[in-house]
This record gives sequence, structure tokens and C-alpha cells, in this order.
Amino acid sequence: MKYVISIILATVLSGYGCQTKKNEVKPYNKGLHIVPLPAKIMESEGVFKLNKNTKLVFEGEDASKSGAYLIKKIMNSTGFELEQSDNSSKNFISLSVDPSCDQGPEGYCLTVASAKIQISSSTGRGLFYGVQTLLQLFPAEIESKTTVRDMAWEIPCVEINDKPRFKWRGMHLDVCRHFFTVDFIKKQLDVMAMYKMNTFHWHLTEDQAWRIEIKKYPKLTEIGSKRVDEGKEHGGYYTQEQVKEIVDYAAERFIDVVPEIELPGHALAALTAYPEYSCTGGPFKVRNVWGVEPDIYCAGNDETFTFIENILDEVATLFPYEYFHIGGDEAPKDRWKECAKCQARIRKEGLHDEHELQSYFIKRAESILLKRNKKMIGWDEILEGGLAQSASVMSWRGEQGGITAASQGHDVVMTPGNWVYLDHYQGSSKVEPVAIGGYTTLEESYGYDPVPEKLDPERVKHILGTQGNVWSEYMYSPELAEYRIYPRIIALAEVNWTAPDRKDYHDFLRRMDNHFVRLDYHDINYHIPLPEGPVSKIALVDSVVLKFATTRPTDMYYTLDGSAPDLESMKYTEPFVIKDSKTVKIRTALLSGKMSPVRTIQISKQEFRDPVDPEEKNTGLSLKIAQGEFYTTKDIAGLTDWKEEKAVNLKQTNSLFNYHTPSVGIFEGYLEVPEDDIYEFSTDTDEFYIAGELLIDNDGEVKRYSRNDASIALRKGLHPVKMVFVNNVYGGWPQAWNGFRISYKRRGDSGVVKLQPEDFVH
Ligand code: ACM
Ligand code: ZN
Repeated sequence: MKYVISIILATVLSGYGCQTKKNEVKPYNKGLHIVPLPAKIMESEGVFKLNKNTKLVFEGEDASKSGAYLIKKIMNSTGFELEQSDNSSKNFISLSVDPSCDQGPEGYCLTVASAKIQISSSTGRGLFYGVQTLLQLFPAEIESKTTVRDMAWEIPCVEINDKPRFKWRGMHLDVCRHFFTVDFIKKQLDVMAMYKMNTFHWHLTEDQAWRIEIKKYPKLTEIGSKRVDEGKEHGGYYTQEQVKEIVDYAAERFIDVVPEIELPGHALAALTAYPEYSCTGGPFKVRNVWGVEPDIYCAGNDETFTFIENILDEVATLFPYEYFHIGGDEAPKDRWKECAKCQARIRKEGLHDEHELQSYFIKRAESILLKRNKKMIGWDEILEGGLAQSASVMSWRGEQGGITAASQGHDVVMTPGNWVYLDHYQGSSKVEPVAIGGYTTLEESYGYDPVPEKLDPERVKHILGTQGNVWSEYMYSPELAEYRIYPRIIALAEVNWTAPDRKDYHDFLRRMDNHFVRLDYHDINYHIPLPEGPVSKIALVDSVVLKFATTRPTDMYYTLDGSAPDLESMKYTEPFVIKDSKTVKIRTALLSGKMSPVRTIQISKQEFRDPVDPEEKNTGLSLKIAQGEFYTTKDIAGLTDWKEEKAVNLKQTNSLFNYHTPSVGIFEGYLEVPEDDIYEFSTDTDEFYIAGELLIDNDGEVKRYSRNDASIALRKGLHPVKMVFVNNVYGGWPQAWNGFRISYKRRGDSGVVKLQPEDFVH
């Protein structure tokens, strides 16, 4: 994908320039910048100076784990090989398990004085979090994996007493829509640990893939881990050895891993491998488009439950933790309604309907898990038809599911889409890489409170916390996944840890300036706001005013000579006027000097295009369709086997295309525009021509939320148009789901005019 490459290039090319002199504090290292913000910080005069003679004092297994971790971190970045010592009178860092630090099972007490640093906690976990805070008191360069020379490794004197607000501080990762490697997951666990997150929710099975080796059912991964998309195979799964490796790696960082095995829906990959556990018997193909699949496990067949029990049994032994997630969301009941076995089950069990059958299904899963000492958690649909007695709920369709479950005395993890779905856009869909939809800025994620306002105070104790949900349909690369995850997940880390009255978004942004540098040392491709506003291809007749904005305060730099902007380029301070054809390049810069990808805006000075006067004017567009699987408009060159059709209204036009029968359609005709003006068009079709010009070219991109909107100067009257509509599945999104879609906006207008086939003539 073009866009991903430009993000990677921007990441590689930008850096911090050369090191400043020793003792010159870089702007992002000034002040305290601990994230998540601790409960209580008291600052005092003076600093502790770390040097090669500093000793580490710790004993016992719990302290040793954090001691060894700290020695390694300090060694990597400072080059100091700190020695462990039994005791020391000055210049030491001590870690001790000490019940007199009264901060609960995850809290810690940290004192930095000029002669020594002391971290204590009643638990090994608390000590680990104390060490994370200590690392954040150092300059950001402490996260470097190689020695940073000429740094003053000084830590301000402080006293910190700290503990978390919530016990479930998580991140979810869908490894099914796109596979992520073991190394990628370890990298995320490293960063989660820095922000005191403690739960990794691993979404392992889906309609689009089964990703965990099950020894008893090898076809689950042999068949179920692979789907074919754009003619290419997308695969990947984790062996049980790799699962253990990840679980161990997480445990070293005090992160619990919660597996998710989806039931009774989102199971098409499993049913492709073992169709006998479906209602219809199949055959199936692993789903290669996003969305919800109607074929789900058959609830009337006892062998389905044996199959599920055997799977849950193998999975449960790999995850030595309390919780087990069974999915439960988005299970359409179409097949159950038609299935004799499912209907017989409903009658036999005295159930009212298919919702109660879902509840029956989930309760059977619950009893399987209870036998293995696992606590079941599921998405909020598990409330429908009656919630299993011991279940906890993950509330994703807003807050209501969580409120209902907590009111019934069940524990809840709050994950409402509007705040914590990290697959949402975090900037304008017109400039950001294509996403599933939604819009959740960093500020919105930061502002989330997992305790719903409407919840009875007596029930607040049932709110375990929140997590970022990372659904990977539109995460076509590991870089794009990180782009979506960060920095919003860090905002959620603070939501989970810090009391609401201590939170302050502007101070969080200030602290994040330091943390972006830390993330750079972990090679995390976090999101940097892009300059938003103007589209990328703009027409002018006399002049155009360019007005840019960002989703949070971030400096913008631009050039007008085609060169890539840097920190020496013109700084954007206010809207500016362009009167000639120009290439505007603009990007943002963080305090560290790191810059966003470049946006390029092509401005062309034009004469108004004259209208035409065709002889015939029939309502709608002419349309020709050819069958076949094509991925770009180049693939259709030389096609001769066209069938003539017409596009006269939306319903009739859309009925000519469906994603099961790949094809290509070419629409032609004329569009009448009401005045001499500049018209900005938007479409998700592959190509859009007007007045003989290829105005919008979405070729080679996922055709949603077109980022190639463009304007053109047109005189009042009719102008020839042509649209190429490649009816395929690209990046998991079927073009047929867009249907016929085109709109325009006149210069200065905010509203768009949506066009339908009958708005054209041919
Ligand atoms: C979900 O987003 N379907 C839980
Ligand atoms: Zn059935």
C-alpha cells in the first residue's frame, strides 16, 4: 500500500539530529513526565547521579526479577554494568519487598534522594511498577537499546506513593484478520509493561482465521489459518510452543494473557476445517471479506460441544490465568432458525427462542471452563437470553451491557467502541490510512471514564477497568497496527491507572513529548497528527485559501517548491493564499523534531471547462459489464467480452454487482452542474473521469473513504463523465458493498450533493 511505504520512509528519514552537549537538557526531558501519572508525587531539591559505581541492592526472588530487569535496561542505554550488592551506604538503588509500603498488591513506594534510591512494595509486581516509574524519571534515552554517550543520567529527587485505580489494564489484539508475529507481540508486551498494563487479551479465532495450534484437531490450523485474498494466501498461526513463549515473556513483565476462542459465531475458519459442527454441513471457505458470517456452530449437535470441550481443554492448559474469553458476539441466528437439530434442542430444553439457545450454548462453555478453574468472560451479547452465573462481561456495544451486568452483580471490563476501539480513525478519513470507520481522537480515549455515570455506586466495585481493542481488518502491516495503537493505548493506560481528578489532557500531551522519544527507541510507528483540511488535488481559477488544522496542537511546516519540509521550512501559522499552480508539501513536527509523513497537495490553476451539448439525453448512465476477477483498472485493458446494461437508479444499479461474482463495470454519460464553479468530487469507485480528465484515481487502494478527493473548475452545463468500477474484494472490502457512490461539494459549501444514477444522462 502506497501510504504505508510513505509512513515507513518518514520514520526512517527523520531523526533527532546530533546529540546535544552533556548536561544540556533536551526540551522533551525537562520536568517530570511519568505516564501513567502516579497517585502522589512530592518533589524536592537535588538529583541522584547514576554512574558506573552505583550499586543495586536487592534480595529474594521477587526483588531479583525487577533487579535483573533494571540492570539490563541500565546496561543497554548507559553502558554501566551495575553490580548487585547486599548493602551499601550511598550511591545505590535498593528494591525491597516490604509490607510497610501500604499501597496494595500493585502499588509501590519510591524515594529518590541524592545519595540513594529506594523502591519498596508489598509484592514483586509492585516493585516492577516502581522500576518502571524510576526508568521514567531518567531522560528518555534510558530506553535506548545501545549505549548513549554524553548523557547526564540524573534523576530528580522525589517521593512517590502510587497504586492503580483499576485491576484490568489491558490491550486486546486481533491476530486473525491479520497475523502478527511472535516478535511483534513481544515488542507490544515490552511497551505495555512500561505503562503498567497487566492484561493481554489475545483474540485467536475468527471467521477469517484460526491461529492457535490444537493438537487434537490439526486441520484447524492446516486449513483454518489460511485465506485467499487478492489472489494471495494470508496465513500464519502460533504453535503451542510459541504460545508458551509469549505467555512466559508476558509473565516476566507481570502481564496476564487472556485467550479468546470465539463461540458460537465468528467461527467460519473452524467450520471450514470441520464442517460437521455447523448446521448445514458446509462446505465452506475461510471468509475473505470482513463483516459477520451467518454460518456458526450448530447448537443442536452434542458433538459440537465435545469438539469445543476438547479445544478449550488444550487452550486452558496453555494459559495459567484466571480468565478465559469465549467471544459470544455477533452470532446471527439465521442458521439455527432453519436447523432441525437446533430447533429440537430448543424444544427439548424448554427454551423460548434462539437467543435463549445462545445462552444455553454459553452456559455449556461456562461449565467446561469451570471444571478447569477458569473464569469465563465474553462480549456483552452473552447477556442475551440470560447471563451465565459466573460470567464476566466485556461491554463493547456502548456502556449499557456493562451497566446491566454490573447491576446483576457480574464483573465487567468496559470497552465501549467510542473510546477504546483503536481501529477507529484518529484523524480525518480524508488524510489518514483507510480504517474501519469510527472516529476516536487521543483526547477522547484519554477522557474515557470506565465507571458509567448511570451506574449505582454500590456496583462500581464490579468495574474491573478497560482495555484498548485492536481489531486488525485494516491493519495491513505491523506498522499500520502500531500507528493505530499508539499513542491512544497510552492514554488508556492512564485512564486505568490514574484517579480521574489527577488527569489533565494538556499535561498528558506535555508528558507524551518525552514518551514519543521512548517509543522511538522501541521502533514503534506511532501516529503523529497530519495536517488536515484541504484535499490533495485542488483546482483554482483566481486563488485558493489553504487552511490546515491538526487533531491536537502540533507545529506544521510547509514548502511551496516541491521539496520535503523540515524544521527549517516555513512554519504554518495562519491560512495562506495560493494564486498559481503549485505543489504544497506539509507535515507536522513533534517537540523531539520527529516529523509526520508528508502530505502533498497539487494545486492547478485552470480555465473553466466548457460544457458539451450531446444529441441524446436519456436518464441515467450507460453501463457495460464484463465478468472476471480483476484487481486494478490496468487488468481490464484489452477486455472485449462486454455486456451492455444501463444504470437508471440506485437499487437497479447495485443489483448488477455482488461480491460473489467478480466483474468490472464502466459507467458513461453526462453530469449537469448548476453554476460556473469549482467542484470537489468524492467517490469510492476505482476511477472517475470528468471533462476528459482522470480526476480521482483510487486504483491500488482499499476503496473506502476515498483519500483522493479532487476538485475541478466547471462551467454550468453538461460535462462528460466516466467511472470504472472494479467489482472485486480488495483488502477484505468488497467494492459491491460501496455500491454506486459519488458526491460533490461546491467551493465554499460544507454540504455535499450525493449523486445517484438518475442524476446523470447518457
Ligand atoms: C466486537 O467488536 N465484535 C466485539
Ligand atoms: Zn444447528
